[in-house]
Amino acid sequence: MTLIDKVLINNDTSIKPIWIMRQAGRYLPEFREIRTKNPDFIKLCLNEVLSAEITLQPLKRFDLDAAIIFSDILMLPYGLNQKVEFRKGIGPILGNLELDNIIELEESDFVEKVRPVYNLISLIKNNELTKNKSTIGFIGAPWTLLVYMINQRSPKSGLKHNFFEDENFIDKVLKLIEKFLKVHIKNQVESGAQIIQIFDSWAGLLEQKNLSKYIYTPTINLVEYIKSLKVPVICFPKSIKRYKEFCDIVNPSAICIDYEVNPKEILKDIKIPVQGGMDPKILLTSQENVKKEAKKYLDIFKDHPYIFNLGHGILPDTDPKMMDYLVKLVKDY
Ligand code: CP3
Repeated sequence: MTLIDKVLINNDTSIKPIWIMRQAGRYLPEFREIRTKNPDFIKLCLNEVLSAEITLQPLKRFDLDAAIIFSDILMLPYGLNQKVEFRKGIGPILGNLELDNIIELEESDFVEKVRPVYNLISLIKNNELTKNKSTIGFIGAPWTLLVYMINQRSPKSGLKHNFFEDENFIDKVLKLIEKFLKVHIKNQVESGAQIIQIFDSWAGLLEQKNLSKYIYTPTINLVEYIKSLKVPVICFPKSIKRYKEFCDIVNPSAICIDYEVNPKEILKDIKIPVQGGMDPKILLTSQENVKKEAKKYLDIFKDHPYIFNLGHGILPDTDPKMMDYLVKLVKDY
């Protein structure tokens, strides 16, 4: 059993395993080297040899307890034949969403299109570096994928004015996203993913009255599906504010928290295992601050099943030495 499984399945509080969101990424010079030579991000994700190498890069440097596969939540719209591009300084840009084409799409055609992602998982699972460690697969939550697929770009500066206009259309897209997410999950698990994390990066955009329809109901369906495959599921409904309500209703195996929520409130309100929380910006300051903040989370969750992580992805400007310092600190705790 891996250390992370001990926390997720046995509720073990005596160990505090660590992995970091975006641990394979731009703060590592060896990633940037590969990235510069591979300007097409989707193609890079579909190159299983290179994406396996990128996945393993942080494990070669740091004593992390999991490998998270190098892929992207937007491989789903890509697999549904919606155009997905990444532009420097802007982020993802998606093409038009052709509902009829998605309705007619065969599951096997989707699987063939994203097959390298599953090959990558087998490569990772069978690599010596992940022995006794967890291999984490992931998906975007239906709501966050809906946002990208309809908005066609990051909603950083808000959703399109007519986003909610055609409710019938949204309902159909949401159903299709759910259908193909199940296919994507099943294939990841069959290839060796031992945990699935659900990233709902834009959960914070919704008003309370819409949470049930766009977040709780579709996420419950996926959580129950993942549990039926005998795999733990970690949910990250970023900035949702109502983490307790989310856990009571959706009941994942663990909840990943962002850096804005008060960890003491979480400890008081939430009974399931917790992951994450520390502000990634702390890693841009001093070792002293990192020690203080990391210890804060470790102390608060001392007697609670807890997986150390950040409250969002590690920032590109982070010094790898700071990451090294953090991992050692958590391991020595
Ligand atoms: O965590 C990991 O190490 C695994 C890899 C991973 C990536 N994306 C690689 C990536 C994971 C888990 C993701 C998830 C993802 N992708 C999310 C959810 C998590 C979050 O950050 O909120 C979202 C919203 C996306 C969509 C996405 N992909 C955006 C908005 C961007 C551009 C902005 C950015 O952060 O660069 C990406 C590109 C992306 N995905 C990069 C990486 C390493 C950067 C690509 C580059 O080198 O330019």
